[in-house]
Amino acid sequence: MNSSLLLRVSVALLVLGMCLGIGMGMTQNFILAPAHAHLNLVGFVLPFLAGLYYRAVPEGGRGALATTQAWLAIIGGILFPIGIAAAVGLGPQYEVLAIVGSLVVFVAALLFAVIVFRTSSARFA
Ligand code: HEM
Repeated sequence: MNSSLLLRVSVALLVLGMCLGIGMGMTQNFILAPAHAHLNLVGFVLPFLAGLYYRAVPEGGRGALATTQAWLAIIGGILFPIGIAAAVGLGPQYEVLAIVGSLVVFVAALLFAVIVFRTSSARFA
């Protein structure tokens, strides 16, 4: 359940991130490059890796901790790039969104670290 959520949402964000990259290339306007980079890396790579880990080690993906981790990774993976885009595109008053998004991503990473430390010695299914 958590792994499907992470895998599906992250590939959707990858497609969005690539569309943004293509849009930047077409318009030759690279102001949103940091938002594009973070959408692809924090929105796709990190949640996708967590989804793969939960597939490889199913006990890691079970329970409230993994569910919390998955939702924080998704919320942060969306909010952080939006905050960056708003801050560079609309003005520094939107930096707070990027800051909150980055902290959400960080907490998700901390939870993921706890889960990996707890479960990575489990035998592969
Ligand atoms: C259709 C696929 C993609 C297109 C068309 C695309 C396009 C672009 C463009 C136009 C730039 C700005 C280059 C510049 O500032 O001169 C860029 C930067 C970047 N892209 Fe992509 N990209 C794609 C996929 C990805 C993916 C999958 C990732 C990561 C997983 C990624 C990570 C980055 C990074 C890290 C930067 C540098 C951002 C910065 O300098 O602030 N891109 N991309």
